[in-house]
Amino acid sequence: METLRGIVVLIHLVGFAVLFGAWVVEWVNGKRGITRLMNWGLAIAGAAGLVLAAPWGIEYDLNYAKIGTKLVILIVIGALLGIGAGRQRKTGSVPAAIFWSIGILTLANAAIAVLWR
Ligand code: HEM
Repeated sequence: METLRGIVVLIHLVGFAVLFGAWVVEWVNGKRGITRLMNWGLAIAGAAGLVLAAPWGIEYDLNYAKIGTKLVILIVIGALLGIGAGRQRKTGSVPAAIFWSIGILTLANAAIAVLWR
């Protein structure tokens, strides 16, 4: 059970890496757009996160305030990805505030995961 949970955490981290990595690529190459990889990363992190939100394979209590906060932030990131992609389709670019919020909120969720004990 513990090993299985470890594998789901690994999948969760892959989702984070895909989402944040795809965002960093767009930042560094100067396009600052929204790509399909970001949606994939969010879906993978979200699905694995929900599985991890249930108390199995652990001997300690889960911090549900922390998990709830992460879920809210994930939903906001999803909304921003949707709105930003719509704007990108119509105008060819994503508003800077939306692009930056996606990266910062993704990093914030990872920070909450690691720092909030
Ligand atoms: C963009 C969204 C997210 C990012 C970047 C993210 C990031 C992370 C990271 C880096 C860890 C590992 C921390 C550690 O092991 O100390 C983690 C663990 C965890 N995440 Fe997320 N997360 C996200 C969304 C979610 C969501 C939506 C949920 C639940 C609804 C969730 C639930 C959890 C749980 C329960 C763990 C602890 C796993 C364990 O130690 O058993 N995460 N997350």
